[in-house]
Amino acid sequence: MTLSFRLRKNKMLSDFTQDSLVMPYFVVEGKGVRNPVNSMPGVHQLSIDLLVKEVAAAKRLGIPAVLLFGVPSKKDLLATAAYRDDGIVQKAVRAIKKSVKGILVITDVCLCEYTSHGHCGVVKPKYKGAKVKCLTDFIDLKQTLALLARTAFSHAKAGADMVAPSAMMPLQVEAIRSMLDMNGFKDLPIMSYSAKFASAFYGPFRDAAGSAPQFADRRTYQLDPADAPAALAVVDADIAQGADIVMVKPALPYLDIIRQVKDSFNVPLAAYNVSGEYALVKAAALNGWVDEKKIVLETYSAIKRAGAGIVISYHACDLARWLKEKN
Ligand code: PBG
Repeated sequence: MTLSFRLRKNKMLSDFTQDSLVMPYFVVEGKGVRNPVNSMPGVHQLSIDLLVKEVAAAKRLGIPAVLLFGVPSKKDLLATAAYRDDGIVQKAVRAIKKSVKGILVITDVCLCEYTSHGHCGVVKPKYKGAKVKCLTDFIDLKQTLALLARTAFSHAKAGADMVAPSAMMPLQVEAIRSMLDMNGFKDLPIMSYSAKFASAFYGPFRDAAGSAPQFADRRTYQLDPADAPAALAVVDADIAQGADIVMVKPALPYLDIIRQVKDSFNVPLAAYNVSGEYALVKAAALNGWVDEKKIVLETYSAIKRAGAGIVISYHACDLARWLKEKN
């Protein structure tokens, strides 16, 4: 565990890292809303009232933490719904904190669900759809970092226990860390989506969160799947900027990266078993082609074996149930 993590004095957090499952949720405006996500059978977009119930049920299963994604009703060029104090995630955090005790609430910090074009940052007004070679050809990095920091701060004010930046913008951890430190949140930890690859396995998530990019793609800011050294370099940079937990994502196709990060750095390590990994298993299971429970348990032990302490998975609640049966 890093020094910076130990310095953030929170009992729940120190229990969290070693052997932990995290359940992701998609939260929408409204009441009594439970929209199925077509490409992820069993996963729904939930309004806050139903989300609170599901989180309470997850807690009863022994899930120590949840990860929240917001699906706003309005999107715009500056992702304003991401950092409003009455934004969907901010309201959801307050509601969970009020009625479910003892569960860690982690928030995804990104702009892609909130921008009208679906990119994780602010697109330069001058950009006219030309081919891009590097990030700053079309993303205004300075403004993006300011808005990501502002989003993290608004989550902190709402009561989030940890923020998880996923935009893959250079220096995002530093920007968020200094914003939190300057505003009385020195003890709020950051779990960075450090080694986030430009992956086709995010397809179903973009259905769930309505965040598919409308032009260009994310290859200028997410990692090349073939490039292991680049992944280790981002992890290194994120730790230097103050990340308390680092993440590798997706999980199964990148078990080697999980292992390399585990062997190279002494910080708590998370792996995200992403939407596409979930969808493949579900589709085959629903056809009766594979045994879902066995596949999921085997996958989980593979991710743990590779070196992840924290596993984020849409199967987290099922896993909690199945792991109990096994013991
Ligand atoms: C937001 C974000 C994404 C995921 C987590 N945070 C999507 C993306 O980068 O396209 C993917 C999670 C999943 O596929 O389950 N930037």
